[in-house]
Amino acid sequence: MSALLSIEGLGIGFGGIRAVNDVSFSVRPGEILSVIGPNGAGKTTLFNMISGVYRPDTGRVVLDGEDVTAIEPHLLARRGLSRTFQNLQIFQSMTVLDNAVAGYHLRESGSVLADLFSLPASRRRAREAREGARALLARVGLDRAAEREAGNLSYGALKRLEIARALALNPKVLLLDEPAAGCNAVETEEIDQLIAEVARSGVAILLVEHDMKMVMRISNHIVVLDHGEKIAEGDPATVSQNPAVIAAYLGSEEAAHADG
Ligand SMILES: Nc1ncnc2c1ncn2[C@@H]1O[C@H](COP(=O)(O)OP(=O)(O)OP(=O)(O)O)[C@@H](O)[C@H]1O
Ligand SMILES: [Mg+2]
Repeated sequence: MSALLSIEGLGIGFGGIRAVNDVSFSVRPGEILSVIGPNGAGKTTLFNMISGVYRPDTGRVVLDGEDVTAIEPHLLARRGLSRTFQNLQIFQSMTVLDNAVAGYHLRESGSVLADLFSLPASRRRAREAREGARALLARVGLDRAAEREAGNLSYGALKRLEIARALALNPKVLLLDEPAAGCNAVETEEIDQLIAEVARSGVAILLVEHDMKMVMRISNHIVVLDHGEKIAEGDPATVSQNPAVIAAYLGSEEAAHADG
């Protein structure tokens, strides 16, 4: 199958520093592609360019054959590219169900007037959103927590709720920035299985994750960034034995020891 999302020569600088420089790769439907690299390598910045949060100063993002570079995030979401954030963006005081419902409202073109007068069309949409949200909660294993306040969930459950909300947009491509960060081994395993299930349904997954065991277990393809440059790519076995990759990680550990 051909590429669903292609990243072509993407780059961006902040005040003279190239945070990401000339990065290219592509991902196919159902594929799990991980972007790894030491802290500050440019992974989140790359995701921000792909999802329209930052405008790249070089290169293109091509989704389904169309140039979607720097299109606003909510418009990109309607075209099938959705994401989660490195820092949780859940409404803690709302119920789990309402958080999932909120995902549906992101994809509506939504007439404010129709909502004001609660016209039948908007009432029907609201009902469909609740039904869809319930189905999504079941998919991520949170159906029994639907009425609970989101702030009371365990960290792993919150991360799954965030994935559910991104899935409400019915994406073709899903970007996950550190979906297992802060999770224990059991929670990581649950997220791992959820990501694999989403990929099996045909969604292309772009994953940034520091948990190397998880990355090696579930990735079909890995792209390695260091100081904003792509230094390697390939399947997990090849990448994990690549001397440049090992050196980049060792180098970052030495820097961390020197700092501390
Ligand atoms: N808005 C910004 N303004 C200035 N510099 C930025 C901005 N966003 C990112 N950077 C810089 O770009 C570089 C890459 O940062 P980025 O957050 O993409 O790294 P990362 O690979 O996601 O790291 P981590 O693993 O710690 O999340 C860093 O040097 C960072 O300080
Ligand atoms: Mg990051």
